[in-house]
Amino acid sequence: MSRAGGSLGTAGGLVVPDAFAPLLIEWQRRAGRSGLPWQHTRDPYRVWLSEVMLQQTQVSTVLSYYPRFLARFPDVTSLARATADEVMALWSGLGYYSRARNLHRCARVVVSDHGGAFPTTAEQLQTLPGIGASTAAAIAAFCHGERVSILDGNVRRVLSRLLAFDGDLAQAGPQRELWSLAQALLPQAPTPSDMTAYTQGLMDLGATVCLRTKPTCERCPVHTVCLARESDQMQRYPVRTRRVPRRFETWWLLVARGGTGEGQRHFWLERRPPVGIWAGLYCPPVFADEAALLDSLEAPMRERLQALEPVAHSLTHRELRLHPLLLDLDVAARTGGLPPGRWVDAAALTAHGLPTPVRQLLSTLV
Ligand code: ADE
Repeated sequence: MSRAGGSLGTAGGLVVPDAFAPLLIEWQRRAGRSGLPWQHTRDPYRVWLSEVMLQQTQVSTVLSYYPRFLARFPDVTSLARATADEVMALWSGLGYYSRARNLHRCARVVVSDHGGAFPTTAEQLQTLPGIGASTAAAIAAFCHGERVSILDGNVRRVLSRLLAFDGDLAQAGPQRELWSLAQALLPQAPTPSDMTAYTQGLMDLGATVCLRTKPTCERCPVHTVCLARESDQMQRYPVRTRRVPRRFETWWLLVARGGTGEGQRHFWLERRPPVGIWAGLYCPPVFADEAALLDSLEAPMRERLQALEPVAHSLTHRELRLHPLLLDLDVAARTGGLPPGRWVDAAALTAHGLPTPVRQLLSTLV
């Protein structure tokens, strides 16, 4: 069988372009990314850590967090021994904090149930906390050369364009179908090094060429076998109908500040509950409305409140609007009349896991 630019093979009964894997591997080796700090290792701990950090975060951001995390926790045993607070503090600013909680939990499971060695197959890896099918495939392919395909959001876009796949990826059926096609596209009889180049090639293509709004098809190593390109319909793919609606929410923050002048400031923070937004992170006490915040304070304290600029912050399915009210308490260790929490020295803030907008806000108040 043939079509524009290449023959079609059938793998597992599915029709896919034969040339895709060899073209991608050749391109990755010649022109793909090769200097990232988590490449050129087959250590599952290092690969796993990078993949979890990269799940919802750009490479440029991870580049600074990754070495810092590894310097403090060089292996899975040291991470398993850490406290949740230590892990959160090093994760602070990366966002999507359930990743950090799962990372810590996963390290403990690897140590307690697997003798400190990560399982070696994608199937087994997926049983661990925080390791989904695509992350498991990335670890198994990079570390052990397993012939298994990743399929994260970027790769879904690449493959749905390549194959002009018009199943609705909001539905489980088409998602499974695309997984099968991803498996059918894998190189035949690959060496471990082929699997590394192929997997990294899929990532590189999604991140640098087959971009969501402006794909640069003229630079694409597989444009000769791409069906979306053939019909100039790149924007049609991936097809996804359901959009999870964003909810808008307003939070009132009581930002109590103690101490005077540089180096002596402290802030009254509470630990967020273990589930929900910013779970386990430190934050000024949160109230659903202004009246509730005022009710929590004694009258003389209410009079000292100063409204600060509201801050907008987007989460995956939520738009938060934060209204900080500053309560300046020059008395160093006053706790009476405040909602539950504790004083944290400004100098100790970096050792605490704080949500990014809170960290930014407090940094303007030290
Ligand atoms: N995104 C997810 N995994 C990645 C990796 N290993 N390298 C670059 N970007 C990625």
